[in-house]
Amino acid sequence: MTPVELEAAAARAFEAEFGARAEIAARAPGRVELLGNHTDYNGGLVMAAAVDRYTAVVGRVAPSSREARVYAANFEGSARFPLAEITRGPVGTWPNYVKGVVWAMHEALDAELTQGFEAAVAGEVPLGAGLSSSASLQASVAFFLLQAGIAPGKTVEQYVGDLSDTARMDLAMVLRRSENAFVGVSSGLLDQFSSLFGREDHALFLDCQSLEFARVPLGSPGPAIIVCDSKTSRKLADGMYNRRFAECNTVVDHFKARKGADAVSLLRDVTLEELESEWDALDPVCRKRARHVLTENERVRQGVAALRAGELKTFGKLISASHASSRDDFENSSPALDALVEIAETAPGFLGGKLSGAGWAGCTVNLVEADKADEFAEAVRRGYADRQGVAPDVHICRAAEGASSRSLAD
Ligand code: GLA
Repeated sequence: MTPVELEAAAARAFEAEFGARAEIAARAPGRVELLGNHTDYNGGLVMAAAVDRYTAVVGRVAPSSREARVYAANFEGSARFPLAEITRGPVGTWPNYVKGVVWAMHEALDAELTQGFEAAVAGEVPLGAGLSSSASLQASVAFFLLQAGIAPGKTVEQYVGDLSDTARMDLAMVLRRSENAFVGVSSGLLDQFSSLFGREDHALFLDCQSLEFARVPLGSPGPAIIVCDSKTSRKLADGMYNRRFAECNTVVDHFKARKGADAVSLLRDVTLEELESEWDALDPVCRKRARHVLTENERVRQGVAALRAGELKTFGKLISASHASSRDDFENSSPALDALVEIAETAPGFLGGKLSGAGWAGCTVNLVEADKADEFAEAVRRGYADRQGVAPDVHICRAAEGASSRSLAD
């Protein structure tokens, strides 16, 4: 489905639910993480790409109302909440992401939205699969609100229309805060950044400490980005995610005690050499977690250089090395994800492959020569079904444009 078709599907759902025509449309893509697994909340380096699978939010301002009414077509469910009092619902439910955006925008602007709204959401980013359907939902809701012009204050005026990169970065941080403080997941900036900054046939580099970023060409035509869904879901992963966060912080605390709290606030402030020199004094599990993060930062550096030099094969090898490090040091892979990567390695056109996102379940991401994409997909489908007894979903994607919004008025 093209983004316009997706918006049209959301508009039909809106009409059926609210008995009126949608006036505003916004969309934002899912993302894959190409390099830099679990580096973001450690202040590290990441490389990602927005992919051509979107969430669309359409609707209209409800001028006389002081509440939000949202219908989610994928769940055939709706949510209704007063803007003046936004409370979190049951953990893991989609309305929290919508409410969290409104909450964080209130907080960032120190003012409430001036009018209510009605909206319908339709998405084609696979859920719970490591493609960050949640960030695409957040970013599309935020763009919807900005396009609607119902977020007050000067700050927002600069957002409307073609959002500058500076404003997009501000918004990414607001959305991260929404996920951390409202939804309750200690995630980093990777997902929101990627959904907002996407560019066709470009990878996205981000230094999560300095917020320096770059859109790096993947070549033209770019390689296929093939997402393979293991069909294992990660219901338990959120607990594991926060545990890894804590394990990384154990190492940060060790170095704070050694070097002083001023010198170290994130794992990024520790070098690989320092980690090695303290190896024996560190907890055996936590030091492996830190080694993964610090070697990932290095792989991102090398990955940017490889892409800039047009060396896609080198870039692919770094992606595969990232998977090995996640599997062995960070221990956030799974037998299903390892099987998918191993099968991909022997499939036509394979350049590199790794788990994407939090890990433990969900998807792998593979860089594949564009003209071999179909053959690759077929080989992985067959190989995984033979080995695991389950047919994987295989999504052939391209690096795509980030969030945008428009009026449907004419
Ligand atoms: C999830 C989080 C991201 C990032 C990745 C792992 O997708 O939402 O912030 O930490 O895991 O790199």
